[in-house]
Amino acid sequence: MVESILTLGERLIGVLEYLGLPTVHVCLRAAGDLSGLGAQAPDRIASVVVSGVWGPPSGLIPFLDRTLWVQGDGSTQARTTVERLAALAGARIYPLASYPDDVWSDTAADRTEELAEVMLAFLSERAQAVGLQPVSCSLEGEVGGVTFRAAGTGTLVVLLPLGLAAQQWEPLLPRLQAHHCTIVLGGRYLAPLSFLEARAAGDYSRMALGALDLALPSAEESVVEVGCGSGALLRHLARRGDIRQITGIDVNPFLLQEAHALATADGLGERLVFLEGSAEAIPLPDNAFDITFSSTLLEEGDTDRMLREMVRVTKPNGRVVAVVRSIDLPWRTNLPLPKGLATKALSPLFDSVTENGCADGSLARRLHNAGLGHVRGGPDWSWVGPSEPFWPTREALLFGRLTQEEIETWRSVQADVETRGLPVSVAQPYHCAFGVKEVAPRQSQSDSAQRL
Ligand SMILES: C[S@@+](CC[C@H](N)C(=O)[O-])C[C@H]1O[C@@H](n2cnc3c(N)ncnc32)[C@H](O)[C@@H]1O
Repeated sequence: MVESILTLGERLIGVLEYLGLPTVHVCLRAAGDLSGLGAQAPDRIASVVVSGVWGPPSGLIPFLDRTLWVQGDGSTQARTTVERLAALAGARIYPLASYPDDVWSDTAADRTEELAEVMLAFLSERAQAVGLQPVSCSLEGEVGGVTFRAAGTGTLVVLLPLGLAAQQWEPLLPRLQAHHCTIVLGGRYLAPLSFLEARAAGDYSRMALGALDLALPSAEESVVEVGCGSGALLRHLARRGDIRQITGIDVNPFLLQEAHALATADGLGERLVFLEGSAEAIPLPDNAFDITFSSTLLEEGDTDRMLREMVRVTKPNGRVVAVVRSIDLPWRTNLPLPKGLATKALSPLFDSVTENGCADGSLARRLHNAGLGHVRGGPDWSWVGPSEPFWPTREALLFGRLTQEEIETWRSVQADVETRGLPVSVAQPYHCAFGVKEVAPRQSQSDSAQRL
């Protein structure tokens, strides 16, 4: 079979077969990563541990009797998730008290002991129920674009990426390896990379880099993206022109490693520099870059603090550009949906935002209050169509709040439009803003910003 058209399920089966593993425990955050393996080879799954579920859990329903959901209840959104899981008959939930459990939550670092104990007890119970035999392994490699790193002795635990968690499963590995052989998987086909890469393969890059173009970057200038993730936008930028110096900074060493691997695979390893560091305390001197850029970063931390840091590392007369998701604007579609369904499906989506994060129209004002001049900005939409790799993710997000009947209505309207050969698109709202670091900067006004 041609490697590039393998499904994720086939890739995961390929890894298990290469390593000679018939049945394994699986731990993950992105529920969708297991749908293919679950559908194609359900007998290979002895048990599932889901830490802070990301995405609709429907693909895991067939494994409810052998799944442990470790789920924080420390935010409105996290509590809604617990309620949804509790509504699944027979779901076994371990609530992580007062833990927000966002997709970027560093759960293995924040709750190491508690998570280790609950996981080890569950894995041991399941290993006995299924009669798994211990093995010993120490091996690294890649099969079908999925990387693996195996170590330890005991029954096998396969660890898929832990969402956007900075330290992934690393803080837990010594505890797990005392009883199990762990196999850590990675690569571009598993979330979060698959999510970031699919998003950037579509119109999201046009929208985000279009915002960056407000800064009119020129070849001899230096550009830094703070919160660069897998470096998807920076690879697009590097391919587009000959900007002298392109740097990506991220707090997540796992994503940086993947970003470096992807840039190297694309022949861009020499042109892109990746650095580890927090946007809230950027480990770089003042006045270092001509253009400082971020896209879907500021939602994940203290926005005003990050913006102050972005301004600090920008040269005088340099430019700062930021893009955030929107929780205050409706989505759009060209589908002629019945009015009630359109209102429900497309109403502003509460997508995870931290307490001090910004995902709304206050973005431009925040740039102004961080001391930037000539601030301009406003909403923009990035669209996606059914044939694109990002469509299933967006569809799952929108369908997640519809009833089965409403989903059927959507599907029939869409099928009707497609049968007539017409295009279909769904557009997600963002906020974009641009400002200039003036030579004589005004005082930062972030405190007054809070009150506006
Ligand atoms: C949704 S991803 C966006 C990645 C990339 N900008 C893109 O558009 O594809 C958000 C990124 O911000 C990073 N991030 C979150 N908090 C951060 C912080 N305090 N400092 C640096 N990076 C951070 C995450 O690790 C993640 O890679």
